[in-house]
Amino acid sequence: MLNAKTIEIIKSTVPVLEVHGEQITTVFYKTMFENHPELLNIFNHANQKQGRQQRALAGTVYAAAKYIDNLEAILPVVNQIAHKHRSLGIKPEHYPIVGKHLLLAIKEVLGEAATDEIINAWAEAYGVIADAFISVEAEMYDAAANQKGGWDGFRPFIVANKIEESEVITSFYLKPVDGRAIADFKPGQYISIKLEAEGEEFTHIRQYSLSDAPGKGYYRISVKKEAGMQTPDGKVSNYLHSNVEEGEILHISAPAGDFFLDSEKKSPVVLLSGGVGLTPMVSMLNTVADLQPEREVTFVHAAANGKVHALKDEVAATAEKAKVNSFVFYDAPTEEDRQNNSFDAEGFVTKEWLQENVNLEQADFYFCGPVPFMKSINASLKELGVTEDRIHFEFFGPMASLEA
Ligand SMILES: Cc1cc2nc3c(=O)[nH]c(=O)nc-3n(C[C@H](O)[C@H](O)[C@H](O)COP(=O)(O)OP(=O)(O)OC[C@H]3O[C@@H](n4cnc5c(N)ncnc54)[C@H](O)[C@@H]3O)c2cc1C
Ligand code: HEM
Repeated sequence: MLNAKTIEIIKSTVPVLEVHGEQITTVFYKTMFENHPELLNIFNHANQKQGRQQRALAGTVYAAAKYIDNLEAILPVVNQIAHKHRSLGIKPEHYPIVGKHLLLAIKEVLGEAATDEIINAWAEAYGVIADAFISVEAEMYDAAANQKGGWDGFRPFIVANKIEESEVITSFYLKPVDGRAIADFKPGQYISIKLEAEGEEFTHIRQYSLSDAPGKGYYRISVKKEAGMQTPDGKVSNYLHSNVEEGEILHISAPAGDFFLDSEKKSPVVLLSGGVGLTPMVSMLNTVADLQPEREVTFVHAAANGKVHALKDEVAATAEKAKVNSFVFYDAPTEEDRQNNSFDAEGFVTKEWLQENVNLEQADFYFCGPVPFMKSINASLKELGVTEDRIHFEFFGPMASLEA
Protein backbone atom coordinates (compact mmCIF):
# COMPACT_ATOMS: atom_id res chain seq x y z
CA MET A 1 0.00 0.00 0.00
CA LEU A 2 1.18 3.55 -0.69
CA ASN A 3 1.81 5.88 2.22
CA ALA A 4 -0.22 9.04 2.80
CA LYS A 5 2.51 11.33 1.50
CA THR A 6 2.82 9.43 -1.80
CA ILE A 7 -0.95 9.45 -2.25
CA GLU A 8 -1.02 13.18 -1.65
CA ILE A 9 1.72 13.79 -4.25
CA ILE A 10 -0.05 11.63 -6.80
CA LYS A 11 -3.41 13.30 -6.30
CA SER A 12 -1.92 16.80 -6.43
CA THR A 13 -0.01 16.10 -9.65
CA VAL A 14 -2.85 14.42 -11.58
CA PRO A 15 -4.31 17.78 -12.78
CA VAL A 16 -0.88 18.87 -14.07
CA LEU A 17 -0.34 15.58 -15.88
CA GLU A 18 -3.86 15.70 -17.29
CA VAL A 19 -3.04 19.00 -18.99
CA HIS A 20 -0.01 17.37 -20.62
CA GLY A 21 -1.70 13.99 -20.89
CA GLU A 22 -1.51 13.33 -24.59
CA GLN A 23 1.89 14.96 -24.95
CA ILE A 24 3.24 12.59 -22.31
CA THR A 25 1.73 9.49 -23.84
CA THR A 26 2.84 10.53 -27.33
CA VAL A 27 6.46 10.83 -26.13
CA PHE A 28 5.97 7.62 -24.18
CA TYR A 29 4.93 5.56 -27.21
CA LYS A 30 7.62 7.05 -29.44
CA THR A 31 10.48 6.17 -27.08
CA MET A 32 8.98 2.83 -26.09
CA PHE A 33 8.73 1.70 -29.73
CA GLU A 34 12.26 2.95 -30.44
CA ASN A 35 13.60 0.85 -27.58
CA HIS A 36 11.20 -2.08 -28.01
CA PRO A 37 10.25 -2.38 -31.68
CA GLU A 38 9.00 -5.92 -30.97
CA LEU A 39 5.96 -4.30 -29.31
CA LEU A 40 4.88 -3.11 -32.75
CA ASN A 41 3.75 -6.71 -33.21
CA ILE A 42 1.08 -6.13 -30.58
CA PHE A 43 -0.02 -2.50 -30.90
CA ASN A 44 -2.36 -1.28 -33.62
CA HIS A 45 -0.32 1.13 -35.77
CA ALA A 46 -3.38 2.94 -37.20
CA ASN A 47 -4.74 3.68 -33.69
CA GLN A 48 -1.35 5.16 -32.84
CA LYS A 49 -1.30 7.35 -35.93
CA GLN A 50 -4.77 8.69 -35.12
CA GLY A 51 -3.90 9.29 -31.46
CA ARG A 52 -6.82 7.17 -30.24
CA GLN A 53 -4.71 4.79 -28.22
CA GLN A 54 -2.72 7.64 -26.64
CA ARG A 55 -5.96 9.25 -25.44
CA ALA A 56 -7.28 5.97 -24.05
CA LEU A 57 -4.12 5.12 -22.12
CA ALA A 58 -3.56 8.65 -20.77
CA GLY A 59 -7.16 8.88 -19.61
CA THR A 60 -6.95 5.58 -17.77
CA VAL A 61 -3.63 6.21 -16.04
CA TYR A 62 -4.97 9.50 -14.64
CA ALA A 63 -8.30 8.02 -13.68
CA ALA A 64 -6.42 5.26 -11.86
CA ALA A 65 -4.17 7.82 -10.16
CA LYS A 66 -7.17 9.80 -8.92
CA TYR A 67 -8.51 6.64 -7.32
CA ILE A 68 -5.13 5.35 -6.22
CA ASP A 69 -6.39 4.79 -2.64
CA ASN A 70 -9.60 3.16 -3.88
CA LEU A 71 -8.86 1.25 -7.10
CA GLU A 72 -12.03 -0.78 -6.53
CA ALA A 73 -13.92 2.25 -7.83
CA ILE A 74 -12.46 1.84 -11.32
CA LEU A 75 -12.63 -1.94 -11.40
CA PRO A 76 -15.18 -2.02 -14.26
CA VAL A 77 -12.75 -0.04 -16.44
CA VAL A 78 -9.80 -2.19 -15.39
CA ASN A 79 -11.89 -5.24 -16.22
CA GLN A 80 -12.75 -3.96 -19.69
CA ILE A 81 -9.13 -3.12 -20.52
CA ALA A 82 -7.92 -6.38 -19.02
CA HIS A 83 -10.21 -8.30 -21.37
CA LYS A 84 -8.58 -6.48 -24.30
CA HIS A 85 -5.10 -7.09 -22.88
CA ARG A 86 -5.80 -10.79 -22.37
CA SER A 87 -7.18 -11.10 -25.85
CA LEU A 88 -4.00 -9.48 -27.21
CA GLY A 89 -1.61 -11.53 -25.07
CA ILE A 90 -0.25 -8.74 -22.78
CA LYS A 91 1.85 -10.39 -20.06
CA PRO A 92 3.26 -9.29 -16.65
CA GLU A 93 6.74 -8.87 -18.17
CA HIS A 94 5.37 -6.09 -20.43
CA TYR A 95 4.36 -3.88 -17.49
CA PRO A 96 7.83 -2.73 -16.38
CA ILE A 97 8.57 -1.69 -19.98
CA VAL A 98 5.47 0.52 -20.06
CA GLY A 99 6.21 1.86 -16.54
CA LYS A 100 9.79 2.79 -17.37
CA HIS A 101 8.86 4.66 -20.54
CA LEU A 102 5.90 6.40 -18.94
CA LEU A 103 8.16 7.82 -16.21
CA LEU A 104 10.77 8.85 -18.78
CA ALA A 105 8.06 10.64 -20.74
CA ILE A 106 6.72 12.43 -17.65
CA LYS A 107 10.27 13.64 -16.94
CA GLU A 108 10.83 14.76 -20.48
CA VAL A 109 7.57 16.70 -20.79
CA LEU A 110 7.50 18.25 -17.31
CA GLY A 111 11.24 19.01 -17.19
CA GLU A 112 12.38 20.46 -13.86
CA ALA A 113 8.88 20.46 -12.45
CA ALA A 114 9.18 16.65 -12.26
CA THR A 115 11.19 16.46 -9.03
CA ASP A 116 12.65 13.18 -7.77
CA GLU A 117 9.91 13.12 -5.15
CA ILE A 118 7.22 13.30 -7.81
CA ILE A 119 8.86 10.71 -10.06
CA ASN A 120 9.34 8.29 -7.17
CA ALA A 121 5.73 8.70 -6.11
CA TRP A 122 4.56 7.96 -9.67
CA ALA A 123 6.86 4.95 -9.90
CA GLU A 124 5.21 3.56 -6.78
CA ALA A 125 1.72 4.40 -8.00
CA TYR A 126 2.34 2.82 -11.40
CA GLY A 127 3.47 -0.32 -9.58
CA VAL A 128 0.16 -0.48 -7.70
CA ILE A 129 -1.90 0.14 -10.85
CA ALA A 130 0.11 -2.40 -12.86
CA ASP A 131 -0.34 -5.01 -10.10
CA ALA A 132 -4.09 -4.48 -10.23
CA PHE A 133 -4.11 -5.15 -13.97
CA ILE A 134 -1.73 -8.09 -13.72
CA SER A 135 -3.83 -9.85 -11.11
CA VAL A 136 -7.14 -9.34 -12.95
CA GLU A 137 -5.49 -10.52 -16.18
CA ALA A 138 -3.96 -13.59 -14.48
CA GLU A 139 -7.47 -14.72 -13.57
CA MET A 140 -8.65 -14.11 -17.12
CA TYR A 141 -5.78 -16.10 -18.67
CA ASP A 142 -6.54 -18.92 -16.30
CA ALA A 143 -10.26 -18.87 -17.09
CA ALA A 144 -9.70 -18.66 -20.87
CA ALA A 145 -7.31 -21.61 -20.94
CA ASN A 146 -9.09 -23.85 -18.44
CA GLN A 147 -12.68 -23.50 -19.56
CA LYS A 148 -14.18 -26.33 -21.65
CA GLY A 149 -12.80 -25.97 -25.17
CA GLY A 150 -10.54 -23.15 -23.99
CA TRP A 151 -6.94 -22.38 -24.89
CA ASP A 152 -4.02 -20.10 -24.18
CA GLY A 153 -2.65 -17.63 -26.72
CA PHE A 154 -3.52 -17.92 -30.41
CA ARG A 155 -5.02 -21.15 -31.81
CA PRO A 156 -5.21 -22.04 -35.51
CA PHE A 157 -8.68 -22.01 -37.04
CA ILE A 158 -9.61 -22.91 -40.58
CA VAL A 159 -11.92 -20.72 -42.65
CA ALA A 160 -14.76 -23.19 -43.24
CA ASN A 161 -16.98 -20.71 -45.14
CA LYS A 162 -16.50 -17.25 -46.51
CA ILE A 163 -19.77 -15.50 -47.31
CA GLU A 164 -20.34 -12.07 -48.76
CA GLU A 165 -23.03 -10.35 -46.70
CA SER A 166 -23.05 -6.99 -48.50
CA GLU A 167 -20.83 -4.95 -50.81
CA VAL A 168 -18.54 -4.17 -47.86
CA ILE A 169 -19.10 -6.89 -45.24
CA THR A 170 -18.01 -10.53 -45.51
CA SER A 171 -18.48 -13.30 -42.94
CA PHE A 172 -15.86 -15.91 -42.07
CA TYR A 173 -16.93 -19.15 -40.36
CA LEU A 174 -14.02 -20.43 -38.29
CA LYS A 175 -13.48 -23.98 -37.06
CA PRO A 176 -10.50 -25.21 -35.02
CA VAL A 177 -7.83 -27.01 -37.03
CA ASP A 178 -7.41 -29.58 -34.25
CA GLY A 179 -11.11 -30.52 -34.56
CA ARG A 180 -11.59 -30.33 -30.81
CA ALA A 181 -14.18 -28.37 -28.81
CA ILE A 182 -14.20 -24.59 -28.85
CA ALA A 183 -14.85 -22.33 -25.88
CA ASP A 184 -18.33 -21.04 -25.35
CA PHE A 185 -18.82 -17.28 -25.40
CA LYS A 186 -21.35 -14.69 -24.37
CA PRO A 187 -23.24 -12.91 -27.17
CA GLY A 188 -21.46 -9.58 -27.68
CA GLN A 189 -17.93 -10.86 -27.02
CA TYR A 190 -15.08 -10.70 -29.53
CA ILE A 191 -12.00 -12.63 -30.57
CA SER A 192 -8.62 -11.31 -31.70
CA ILE A 193 -7.03 -12.37 -34.98
CA LYS A 194 -3.25 -12.30 -35.27
CA LEU A 195 -2.27 -11.84 -38.88
CA GLU A 196 1.15 -12.84 -40.14
CA ALA A 197 1.08 -11.71 -43.73
CA GLU A 198 3.82 -12.22 -46.25
CA GLY A 199 5.84 -9.06 -46.81
CA GLU A 200 4.69 -7.51 -43.53
CA GLU A 201 7.43 -6.65 -41.03
CA PHE A 202 5.10 -7.01 -38.04
CA THR A 203 2.14 -9.11 -37.03
CA HIS A 204 -1.16 -7.26 -36.84
CA ILE A 205 -3.79 -8.06 -34.22
CA ARG A 206 -7.42 -6.95 -34.55
CA GLN A 207 -10.61 -7.67 -32.64
CA TYR A 208 -13.79 -8.95 -34.28
CA SER A 209 -17.10 -9.43 -32.47
CA LEU A 210 -18.62 -12.86 -32.88
CA SER A 211 -21.66 -12.36 -35.07
CA ASP A 212 -23.63 -15.56 -34.49
CA ALA A 213 -25.06 -17.16 -31.35
CA PRO A 214 -22.81 -19.43 -29.26
CA GLY A 215 -23.03 -23.22 -29.26
CA LYS A 216 -22.86 -23.80 -33.03
CA GLY A 217 -19.43 -25.46 -33.24
CA TYR A 218 -17.92 -22.52 -35.12
CA TYR A 219 -17.14 -18.87 -34.57
CA ARG A 220 -18.48 -16.45 -37.13
CA ILE A 221 -17.01 -13.00 -37.65
CA SER A 222 -18.33 -10.44 -40.15
CA VAL A 223 -15.73 -8.00 -41.34
CA LYS A 224 -16.14 -4.64 -43.04
CA LYS A 225 -13.58 -3.78 -45.68
CA GLU A 226 -12.05 -0.46 -44.59
CA ALA A 227 -11.10 1.06 -47.91
CA GLY A 228 -11.65 3.92 -50.30
CA MET A 229 -11.19 6.76 -47.82
CA GLN A 230 -8.48 9.42 -47.85
CA THR A 231 -6.47 7.42 -45.32
CA PRO A 232 -4.54 4.24 -46.19
CA ASP A 233 -6.72 1.16 -46.65
CA GLY A 234 -7.16 -0.88 -43.47
CA LYS A 235 -4.53 -3.61 -43.18
CA VAL A 236 -6.29 -6.58 -41.71
CA SER A 237 -9.83 -6.12 -43.05
CA ASN A 238 -8.57 -5.78 -46.63
CA TYR A 239 -6.25 -8.73 -46.22
CA LEU A 240 -9.15 -10.86 -44.96
CA HIS A 241 -11.42 -9.79 -47.82
CA SER A 242 -8.86 -10.13 -50.59
CA ASN A 243 -6.43 -12.85 -49.50
CA VAL A 244 -8.11 -15.20 -47.05
CA GLU A 245 -10.18 -17.86 -48.78
CA GLU A 246 -11.97 -20.98 -47.53
CA GLY A 247 -9.47 -23.56 -46.29
CA GLU A 248 -6.98 -21.01 -45.04
CA ILE A 249 -5.80 -20.72 -41.46
CA LEU A 250 -6.30 -17.80 -39.06
CA HIS A 251 -4.84 -17.60 -35.56
CA ILE A 252 -7.28 -16.41 -32.94
CA SER A 253 -7.36 -15.93 -29.17
CA ALA A 254 -10.22 -17.15 -26.99
CA PRO A 255 -13.40 -15.01 -26.76
CA ALA A 256 -13.16 -11.96 -24.53
CA GLY A 257 -14.98 -8.80 -23.56
CA ASP A 258 -17.33 -7.40 -20.95
CA PHE A 259 -19.97 -6.22 -23.42
CA PHE A 260 -22.53 -8.99 -23.61
CA LEU A 261 -26.23 -9.64 -23.31
CA ASP A 262 -27.36 -10.66 -19.85
CA SER A 263 -29.27 -13.83 -20.70
CA GLU A 264 -30.41 -14.25 -17.10
CA LYS A 265 -32.56 -11.18 -17.33
CA LYS A 266 -36.06 -11.20 -18.80
CA SER A 267 -36.41 -7.46 -19.37
CA PRO A 268 -37.13 -6.24 -22.91
CA VAL A 269 -33.99 -5.53 -24.88
CA VAL A 270 -33.30 -2.89 -27.50
CA LEU A 271 -30.38 -3.62 -29.84
CA LEU A 272 -29.23 -0.60 -31.84
CA SER A 273 -26.52 -0.69 -34.46
CA GLY A 274 -24.95 1.47 -37.11
CA GLY A 275 -23.08 -0.12 -40.05
CA VAL A 276 -20.81 -3.00 -39.12
CA GLY A 277 -21.65 -2.36 -35.45
CA LEU A 278 -24.47 -4.85 -36.07
CA THR A 279 -22.20 -7.87 -35.49
CA PRO A 280 -22.51 -8.16 -31.69
CA MET A 281 -26.21 -7.25 -31.99
CA VAL A 282 -26.92 -10.11 -34.38
CA SER A 283 -25.16 -12.46 -31.97
CA MET A 284 -27.42 -11.18 -29.18
CA LEU A 285 -30.50 -11.39 -31.38
CA ASN A 286 -29.78 -14.97 -32.45
CA THR A 287 -29.07 -15.95 -28.85
CA VAL A 288 -32.34 -14.54 -27.57
CA ALA A 289 -34.17 -16.33 -30.40
CA ASP A 290 -32.46 -19.62 -29.40
CA LEU A 291 -32.69 -19.35 -25.62
CA GLN A 292 -35.37 -16.83 -24.69
CA PRO A 293 -37.85 -16.72 -27.60
CA GLU A 294 -40.43 -15.10 -25.32
CA ARG A 295 -38.15 -12.15 -24.52
CA GLU A 296 -39.18 -8.94 -26.21
CA VAL A 297 -36.54 -7.59 -28.59
CA THR A 298 -36.41 -4.40 -30.63
CA PHE A 299 -33.70 -4.63 -33.28
CA VAL A 300 -32.82 -1.28 -34.85
CA HIS A 301 -30.25 -1.12 -37.61
CA ALA A 302 -29.01 1.96 -39.44
CA ALA A 303 -27.04 1.69 -42.68
CA ALA A 304 -26.41 3.93 -45.66
CA ASN A 305 -28.55 1.79 -47.98
CA GLY A 306 -29.33 -1.75 -49.12
CA LYS A 307 -25.97 -2.21 -50.82
CA VAL A 308 -24.07 -2.10 -47.53
CA HIS A 309 -26.76 -3.64 -45.34
CA ALA A 310 -25.38 -6.98 -44.09
CA LEU A 311 -27.19 -10.00 -42.63
CA LYS A 312 -30.53 -8.54 -43.66
CA ASP A 313 -32.25 -11.83 -44.52
CA GLU A 314 -30.89 -13.54 -41.43
CA VAL A 315 -32.27 -10.83 -39.13
CA ALA A 316 -35.61 -10.87 -40.93
CA ALA A 317 -35.86 -14.68 -40.58
CA THR A 318 -34.97 -14.54 -36.89
CA ALA A 319 -37.50 -11.78 -36.33
CA GLU A 320 -40.16 -14.11 -37.75
CA LYS A 321 -39.52 -16.88 -35.26
CA ALA A 322 -39.10 -14.86 -32.05
CA LYS A 323 -40.70 -11.84 -30.39
CA VAL A 324 -38.68 -9.34 -32.39
CA ASN A 325 -39.60 -5.94 -33.76
CA SER A 326 -37.08 -5.04 -36.41
CA PHE A 327 -36.57 -1.53 -37.86
CA VAL A 328 -34.25 -0.53 -40.67
CA PHE A 329 -33.02 3.04 -41.20
CA TYR A 330 -31.26 4.09 -44.41
CA ASP A 331 -29.77 7.55 -44.63
CA ALA A 332 -28.89 7.30 -48.36
CA PRO A 333 -31.39 4.83 -49.86
CA THR A 334 -31.00 3.86 -53.51
CA GLU A 335 -33.79 3.93 -56.08
CA GLU A 336 -33.95 0.15 -55.78
CA ASP A 337 -34.37 0.38 -51.99
CA ARG A 338 -37.30 2.73 -52.54
CA GLN A 339 -38.93 0.52 -55.17
CA ASN A 340 -38.55 -2.57 -53.00
CA ASN A 341 -39.69 -0.80 -49.86
CA SER A 342 -36.73 -2.34 -48.20
CA PHE A 343 -36.37 0.06 -45.25
CA ASP A 344 -38.66 1.45 -42.59
CA ALA A 345 -37.39 5.00 -42.19
CA GLU A 346 -35.12 7.41 -44.00
CA GLY A 347 -32.46 9.31 -42.08
CA PHE A 348 -31.01 8.71 -38.61
CA VAL A 349 -32.38 7.18 -35.43
CA THR A 350 -33.65 10.16 -33.46
CA LYS A 351 -34.64 10.80 -29.88
CA GLU A 352 -38.24 11.34 -30.98
CA TRP A 353 -38.28 8.01 -32.76
CA LEU A 354 -36.91 6.25 -29.68
CA GLN A 355 -39.48 7.94 -27.49
CA GLU A 356 -42.30 6.61 -29.64
CA ASN A 357 -41.00 3.15 -30.42
CA VAL A 358 -39.11 1.58 -27.54
CA ASN A 359 -39.77 0.67 -23.93
CA LEU A 360 -37.80 3.39 -22.15
CA GLU A 361 -38.89 2.42 -18.65
CA GLN A 362 -37.88 -1.22 -18.59
CA ALA A 363 -35.63 -2.16 -21.49
CA ASP A 364 -31.91 -2.76 -21.46
CA PHE A 365 -30.20 -0.94 -24.33
CA TYR A 366 -27.19 -2.29 -26.21
CA PHE A 367 -25.56 -0.31 -28.99
CA CYS A 368 -22.55 -0.23 -31.26
CA GLY A 369 -21.60 1.70 -34.37
CA PRO A 370 -19.60 4.69 -35.55
CA VAL A 371 -18.72 7.06 -32.69
CA PRO A 372 -21.13 9.86 -33.84
CA PHE A 373 -23.97 7.28 -33.96
CA MET A 374 -23.08 6.09 -30.46
CA LYS A 375 -22.88 9.64 -29.10
CA SER A 376 -26.28 10.46 -30.49
CA ILE A 377 -27.95 7.29 -29.14
CA ASN A 378 -26.29 7.71 -25.76
CA ALA A 379 -27.39 11.35 -25.46
CA SER A 380 -30.96 10.54 -26.55
CA LEU A 381 -31.31 7.69 -24.07
CA LYS A 382 -30.01 9.80 -21.21
CA GLU A 383 -32.28 12.71 -22.11
CA LEU A 384 -35.19 10.28 -22.19
CA GLY A 385 -34.38 9.22 -18.65
CA VAL A 386 -32.88 5.75 -19.27
CA THR A 387 -30.72 4.94 -16.27
CA GLU A 388 -26.99 4.22 -16.78
CA ASP A 389 -27.29 0.65 -15.51
CA ARG A 390 -29.50 -0.13 -18.54
CA ILE A 391 -27.15 1.43 -21.12
CA HIS A 392 -24.46 -0.85 -22.59
CA PHE A 393 -22.17 -0.16 -25.53
CA GLU A 394 -19.07 -1.33 -27.36
CA PHE A 395 -16.43 0.65 -29.25
CA PHE A 396 -14.88 -0.88 -32.34
CA GLY A 397 -11.58 0.74 -31.35
CA PRO A 398 -9.94 2.13 -28.22
CA MET A 399 -12.50 3.38 -25.71
CA ALA A 400 -13.45 7.04 -26.06
CA SER A 401 -15.82 9.44 -24.37
CA LEU A 402 -19.45 9.50 -25.50
CA GLU A 403 -20.17 12.73 -23.71
CA ALA A 404 -20.61 15.88 -25.81
C1 LIG B 1 -14.16 -5.03 -29.60
C2 LIG B 1 -14.06 -4.81 -31.09
C3 LIG B 1 -14.89 -5.49 -31.93
C4 LIG B 1 -14.82 -5.27 -33.31
N1 LIG B 1 -15.65 -5.97 -34.12
C5 LIG B 1 -15.61 -5.76 -35.46
C6 LIG B 1 -16.49 -6.47 -36.33
O1 LIG B 1 -17.31 -7.27 -35.90
N2 LIG B 1 -16.37 -6.24 -37.67
C7 LIG B 1 -15.48 -5.35 -38.19
O2 LIG B 1 -15.42 -5.19 -39.40
N3 LIG B 1 -14.64 -4.67 -37.37
C8 LIG B 1 -14.69 -4.86 -36.03
N4 LIG B 1 -13.82 -4.17 -35.21
C9 LIG B 1 -12.81 -3.28 -35.83
C10 LIG B 1 -11.59 -4.11 -36.21
O3 LIG B 1 -10.94 -4.56 -35.04
C11 LIG B 1 -10.56 -3.31 -36.99
O4 LIG B 1 -10.29 -2.12 -36.31
C12 LIG B 1 -11.05 -2.99 -38.40
O5 LIG B 1 -11.27 -4.20 -39.12
C13 LIG B 1 -10.00 -2.15 -39.15
O6 LIG B 1 -8.79 -2.84 -39.14
P1 LIG B 1 -7.80 -2.75 -40.37
O7 LIG B 1 -6.57 -3.47 -40.00
O8 LIG B 1 -8.48 -3.13 -41.62
O9 LIG B 1 -7.53 -1.21 -40.47
P2 LIG B 1 -6.29 -0.45 -39.86
O10 LIG B 1 -5.09 -0.69 -40.66
O11 LIG B 1 -6.26 -0.74 -38.40
O12 LIG B 1 -6.81 1.04 -40.09
C14 LIG B 1 -7.93 1.51 -39.36
C15 LIG B 1 -8.35 2.85 -39.91
O13 LIG B 1 -7.30 3.77 -39.76
C16 LIG B 1 -7.01 4.39 -41.00
N5 LIG B 1 -5.55 4.61 -41.09
C17 LIG B 1 -4.60 3.70 -41.36
N6 LIG B 1 -3.39 4.28 -41.38
C18 LIG B 1 -3.60 5.58 -41.12
C19 LIG B 1 -2.76 6.71 -41.05
N7 LIG B 1 -1.46 6.59 -41.24
N8 LIG B 1 -3.31 7.91 -40.75
C20 LIG B 1 -4.65 8.04 -40.57
N9 LIG B 1 -5.49 7.01 -40.65
C21 LIG B 1 -4.98 5.81 -40.92
C22 LIG B 1 -7.48 3.42 -42.07
O14 LIG B 1 -7.86 4.11 -43.23
C23 LIG B 1 -8.67 2.79 -41.41
O15 LIG B 1 -9.83 3.56 -41.64
C24 LIG B 1 -13.88 -4.37 -33.84
C25 LIG B 1 -13.03 -3.69 -32.96
C26 LIG B 1 -13.11 -3.90 -31.61
C27 LIG B 1 -12.20 -3.16 -30.69
C1 HEM C 1 -1.20 0.11 -16.09
C2 HEM C 1 -0.83 0.02 -17.34
C3 HEM C 1 -1.75 0.08 -18.53
C4 HEM C 1 -2.88 0.83 -18.73
C5 HEM C 1 -3.53 1.83 -17.78
C6 HEM C 1 -3.39 0.49 -20.04
C7 HEM C 1 -4.51 1.04 -20.61
C8 HEM C 1 -5.03 0.68 -21.82
C9 HEM C 1 -6.23 1.21 -22.40
C10 HEM C 1 -7.11 2.26 -21.78
C11 HEM C 1 -6.43 0.59 -23.58
C12 HEM C 1 -7.58 0.81 -24.56
C13 HEM C 1 -8.61 -0.20 -24.25
C14 HEM C 1 -9.70 -0.21 -25.26
O1 HEM C 1 -9.51 -0.78 -26.31
O2 HEM C 1 -10.73 0.36 -25.02
C15 HEM C 1 -5.35 -0.35 -23.77
C16 HEM C 1 -5.21 -1.15 -24.86
C17 HEM C 1 -4.02 -1.77 -25.18
N1 HEM C 1 -2.97 -1.96 -24.33
FE1 HEM C 1 -2.79 -1.26 -22.46
N2 HEM C 1 -2.56 -0.44 -20.61
C18 HEM C 1 -1.55 -0.70 -19.73
C19 HEM C 1 -0.52 -1.60 -19.92
C20 HEM C 1 -0.22 -2.18 -21.12
C21 HEM C 1 0.96 -2.96 -21.38
C22 HEM C 1 2.02 -3.31 -20.34
C23 HEM C 1 0.91 -3.31 -22.70
C24 HEM C 1 1.93 -4.09 -23.50
C25 HEM C 1 3.15 -3.68 -23.68
C26 HEM C 1 -0.32 -2.78 -23.25
C27 HEM C 1 -0.75 -2.96 -24.54
C28 HEM C 1 -1.98 -2.58 -25.02
C29 HEM C 1 -2.43 -2.82 -26.38
C30 HEM C 1 -1.63 -3.49 -27.49
C31 HEM C 1 -3.71 -2.31 -26.47
C32 HEM C 1 -4.63 -2.33 -27.70
C33 HEM C 1 -4.62 -1.00 -28.29
C34 HEM C 1 -4.24 -0.89 -29.71
O3 HEM C 1 -3.45 -1.71 -30.21
O4 HEM C 1 -4.73 0.07 -30.29
N3 HEM C 1 -0.97 -2.10 -22.27
N4 HEM C 1 -4.52 -0.28 -22.68
